[in-house]
Amino acid sequence: MSSMNIFTPIPLTSGSRNPTNYFPRLQRPNSVLFAVNSPPPPPPSPPEIELEFIGPKGEGDLDKAKAISGAKLLRNIMLDNKIELYATYGKLMNCGGGGSCGTCIVEIIEGGDLLNERTNTELRYLKKKPESWRLACQTIVGNKENCGKVVVQRIPQWKK
Ligand code: FES
Repeated sequence: MSSMNIFTPIPLTSGSRNPTNYFPRLQRPNSVLFAVNSPPPPPPSPPEIELEFIGPKGEGDLDKAKAISGAKLLRNIMLDNKIELYATYGKLMNCGGGGSCGTCIVEIIEGGDLLNERTNTELRYLKKKPESWRLACQTIVGNKENCGKVVVQRIPQWKK
C-alpha cells in the first residue's frame, strides 16, 4: 500500500465504498404520498349567531337569520335578509346607519350578552330608554368567538 497516493483510483464495487450505499434512494411512505395528493382540509367554520326577529305584531310575526359572529351590524343583517327594521317614518328618513336618527331602535329580548356594549352614540341617544333597547346600526352581533341565539323585538315603541 505504500504506492498509494491521492491519485490512486479506489475500486467502487467493493462493499461499503459503493456510492449507492452512501446515498440510498429515499423511499416515501404511502401516507406521505396520500397527504401530498389529497386536497387540504377545509378551514374550520367560524362561529355563528342565530337570530330571531319578533315583529311589531308579536310572536306570530317571526323572521329568522344567521350571521357569522362579529362580522356584521344588526342593521345590516336585517337589511340583507329583507327583515323589516324601520317604521314608516324611518323608512323615509333614516340616517343610513350613521347613528343620528334613532329610527333603528330594537329591543333585545334574549342574548344581549352576545352583542357589543352600548356605544357612546347609544349611551347618548338611548339615555332614558330601557337597557335592552339598542340602535341596530350600532350593534355588532357576536365577537368573532361566541355563538348562540339572539331574539330581537322590532320596533319596540309599537309594542302594546
Ligand atoms: S339608522 Fe339612524 S340611528 Fe340607526
